[in-house]
Parts: sequence; C-alpha cells; structure tokens
Amino acid sequence: KFDGLADTPPMGWNSWNHFGCQIDEDLIKETADAMARNGMRDAGYEYVNIDDCWHGERDEDGFIQPDPERFPSGMKALADYVHERGLKLGIYSDAGAKTCAGYPGSQGYEYQDAMQYARWGIDYLKYDWCNTGEGGAQRNPVEAYTTMRDALYAAGRPIVLSICEWGDNEPWMWGEEIGHLWRTTGDIINCWDCEVGHGNWSSFGIMNILDKQDGLREYAGPGHWNDPDMMEVGNLSTPAEDRAHFTMWAMLAAPLIAGTDIRDVSDSLRTTLTNEEIIAVDQDPLGIQGYAHKKTADVEIWVKPLMDGDWAMTILNRSDEPQDFEYDFMNEYAFEDALTGRRTAFEKEVYDVRDLWAGEDLADTSRPIRKRLPVHDVLALRLTPTGPMPTRQENEIEPDPG
Ligand code: DGJ
Repeated sequence: KFDGLADTPPMGWNSWNHFGCQIDEDLIKETADAMARNGMRDAGYEYVNIDDCWHGERDEDGFIQPDPERFPSGMKALADYVHERGLKLGIYSDAGAKTCAGYPGSQGYEYQDAMQYARWGIDYLKYDWCNTGEGGAQRNPVEAYTTMRDALYAAGRPIVLSICEWGDNEPWMWGEEIGHLWRTTGDIINCWDCEVGHGNWSSFGIMNILDKQDGLREYAGPGHWNDPDMMEVGNLSTPAEDRAHFTMWAMLAAPLIAGTDIRDVSDSLRTTLTNEEIIAVDQDPLGIQGYAHKKTADVEIWVKPLMDGDWAMTILNRSDEPQDFEYDFMNEYAFEDALTGRRTAFEKEVYDVRDLWAGEDLADTSRPIRKRLPVHDVLALRLTPTGPMPTRQENEIEPDPG
C-alpha cells in the first residue's frame, strides 16, 4: 500500500515467539525502555507489538477492553508510554469470532475495534486467521482483510496492517492493496532445520521457512512485503545461527520483528540485532527481495540488488560441518537478476567487497575470496562498484626509459 507507512520492511518486536500468552503491561513497558536504551530504537526498530492474549471482555456497548489484571492502566496509557520513548505500539486481533488462543476476535466488530485501536493510539495491527471456518464455509480472506483495512481507514489513524494468513490462500496474490505485509507460511519455531507437527498444523525451522520463500520475490516491494514470520534471533542454539537467520531475513527484505526477551540482552545478541550494515541491506530503499544465485546441498549463495548499483551477497552454510568457500568473481557467472534485469559484469567493472559481520573491507572483485564458513553461519558481503576494470597496460610497470 502506498500510504508511506511501510516504504521499507517494518522493524520492531513482538511478544509471541518468546512469551506466548505470558504478557502484561510491565513486559511491554520494560521492552520499550530496553529498545530505547540498548540501541535497537536507534538502529531502526520502531514497533512494540503485543500479540495474542491481551484481551479482556467487550463492554456493554461492544467495545473491546484489555484484560484488567494484565493491563490495569489500559491501552491508552500504554500507548502514551511507548510513544514517549519514541516508539510505536502494535496490537493483535483475528478475523474470526475468536483469536487462536480463544479471546474475542473482530468478526462482526471490525469498525468498532478499529475505532477503539485508533482511540488508544495503536500504530500497527497484526490480524490473524484462526476460527475463520473450514473448506467451503471458510470466510473469504479478501473480504475479511479488506473489511478490516476499510475499518482502519474509517477510524482515521495511520495503522500498519499485518495480514496473518499463513499462505494457504496465497495472500501475495491479493495482499498488496489490502495490507503492508502478509505471512507466507505457518508459524516459525526456534530450530535451524525442523518441522514440528501440532495435529492439523505445523511450525517450521529457519531453513524450512527460507525454502518456502521460493517464487515469491516478485510480489514484494515498497509498501507491501512478504513476511516469513517474526524472528527467532536470540532463541536459536548458537550465536552463528542467530546471525545467519538475521542475515537471511535481511536478504529477503523481510520485516525485522524481534521475538526474544530483549530486556536484558547479551552483548553478542545486541550486536547481532543492531548490525547497521545488515539492517541497511534489509531496509534498502529499492525494496528488492533477494534470491538464491547458486545452491549446493551444503552452501547457498544469495544476492540482493541494492541502491546505487551495490549488491548484497550472502554465503550461507546450511550444513553441520564447516565449509571452505572460494569464489572467483572473474571466472564465476555474473549475477543476473531475472526480475529487475540488473546484472553484474565483473570482467569489466570492479566492486569493493566489504564483510558486514567483520565490519571490514575484504578485497575487491578482481581477486577471488576464500573463507572458512563455520557451521550454520554466513559470510555477508556488500559489493560496491568502484569503476572499470583496469586494462592490462595500466597494470604494467612502465618500462625504464633509460
Ligand atoms: C498464529 C500466528 O501465526 C502466530 O504468529 C501467533 O500470532 C499466534 N497465532 C497467536 O495465537
């Protein structure tokens, strides 16, 4: 949607992945305080999002109220608190009569709920898809999400709309005019490579979610993003996995919504979540989702065209062993983006190569790079064009005239 609310992928935090239903106003306040203090806000994280389980009952006029025990000060006071810290507040509802956790949903109350959110000062709505019926009796998703979009418009406050339909109804086909982002898959879970069944639904590890993004990049762009789900950065087994997950979400131009406890964050996790150069890959103004340039069983090379002719290039070690990686830009295939027509010509143009996790310039593309990739880790590079490849003559030492 071209209303300027999500020109680049939204960034923030959400309670669900780490806290589930164990939420209250103190958690939200402490999280906002932490984001203002630990560098996350200044790195671009903007939204503090409450997920399922904040609800109390509807009042006698049908207006939804927060749980008075968990949110005794009320949502308006909480929004004020978050806004005072230079952040924005997000909330959650569902297109069915009940949320996934069984709290009141918005079906039949869309305009009233949107009005209530606007009165409270809410800035972001994640709108879930539980209890919307099955098969032919399922609520029409285009109708359901359009109704909430129009209700938010009518309420008159700019509110980001996050479509939380899990990909079954191909939200990328219809989401662009309705919401700012749409989930592409079922729920993420904090493992590198796994699928966990829960009866009639499954949740997916980081690599599983990554594989499910195939073929979707053409649907994303400024104002309308594929959402491979909120991050498990900080919840994975090793700092390398956290780093790799964060980098791949940046390569996907994914919303960067942290999903861990950031109130007392370790230095290593803070460094990961606030790496400005990785965030710049995600937030690049062109908004082009990256793609796999080359895949082997163990190692994948992903690239993403960036502004001013730059490219992000990430080498991902998916395997359980360290991998020795070598790349000779001059002899390998050029990058060629079928979607935008952008291509590199390493034989004609030199690019500087910067290592975004080491924070150092490595070399340039006239020489091969060689690196040992640790298990479940990435090498994240930014290539910046510096000029034409020097001709042979310029390289040669001038013959001594004497
Ligand atoms: C399903 C969603 O996909 C999750 O992200 C989370 O919002 C839960 N529902 C909450 O019940």
